[in-house]
Amino acid sequence: MSTLGFDDKIVTIERHIQEQQKQIPHATGTLTGLLQDIALAGKMIASRTTRAGLVDIIGATGETNVQGEKVQKLDIYAHETLFRLNDHTGRLCAMGSEEAEELIPIPEQFENGDYVLLFDPLDGSSNINYNVSVGTIFTIFRRVTPSGPGELEDALQPMRRIVAAGYIVYGSSTMMVYSCGNGVDGFTLDPQVGEFLLSHPNIRLPEKPKYWSGNMSYYPKWTKGVKAYCDWLINGCDGKHKMSMRYIGSMIADVHRLLLSGGIFFYPNETDRAEAKLRLLYETMPMGFLIEQAGGYVSTGTEPLRNIQPTDLHQRMAVYMGNRDLVEKAEEFITEYDGA
Ligand code: AHG
Ligand code: MN
Ligand code: MN
Repeated sequence: MSTLGFDDKIVTIERHIQEQQKQIPHATGTLTGLLQDIALAGKMIASRTTRAGLVDIIGATGETNVQGEKVQKLDIYAHETLFRLNDHTGRLCAMGSEEAEELIPIPEQFENGDYVLLFDPLDGSSNINYNVSVGTIFTIFRRVTPSGPGELEDALQPMRRIVAAGYIVYGSSTMMVYSCGNGVDGFTLDPQVGEFLLSHPNIRLPEKPKYWSGNMSYYPKWTKGVKAYCDWLINGCDGKHKMSMRYIGSMIADVHRLLLSGGIFFYPNETDRAEAKLRLLYETMPMGFLIEQAGGYVSTGTEPLRNIQPTDLHQRMAVYMGNRDLVEKAEEFITEYDGA
């Protein structure tokens, strides 16, 4: 076994995407091109994030995004990179970004295509100043309207309709992890040759979970059910699991660890807030899709996330994702203490 995790073949992400698409009957190559452009965007963004401390790029622009949060300069760079690489290819009929209030149309001079691309250009951006892993999250849907410019309903589709989703994490190495609904594969960027190479084929959540992950500073604001669930985790899951706690505060990094180590990641509702923090379309659905593709389960705390029909581009919702028994246990506590 080589250090990259394969025996005899070096598989680039381009090769892997092409091979996967060959298995899909009537594939036109559009999705292949789209995924390859996302990988390219990832490389471009990675080249900036790794220099964040060196150039005058770090720090806030002073503006706020549509959700009232401080926008970092790298958020904008990442957003623009993804948009500019994908606006003219004829593959998309619209885009949606955490950094844009409305659905983003394809500029008039370019053709509209069959897919919609949604992205959180830089997740965990409040952590940039601390040199903590950040990343890009993406979701691809096939359009539901027949032709012309995309409409809101093309973007507001449930998790079970995702065609492909994934992320690029800019950490101690840059990795792209994605799924087209046929398992999850991870690729590590070799910065010297500028290629993503298959390093983590067919990622499955380990059966023996290692970490639970939630922001315990909100404990006083959680409902009785969530508190009881958290107490259950702290007290060793009735002796069923021996887990430790980790929370980075960068969903991309917390869920990346979850995929490789097993366990649970949760971001619950709080009693004094109408909605939980994480965004359905840009964060919880794509990351949840990967967790389910790796053998896990994703819930809102009361029902499977895959059942949720989004109603707003920036909708937020509680999430519990990870090993099935741990997520189902959260549902049990929430049903018992908080009522269904
Ligand atoms: P973003 O940087 O895209 O706005 O997302 C930040 C999110 C997510 O990455 C993370 O899981 C969560 O914020 C952390 O929130 P808390 O600080 O409330 O735990
Ligand atoms: Mn985010
Ligand atoms: Mn973001």
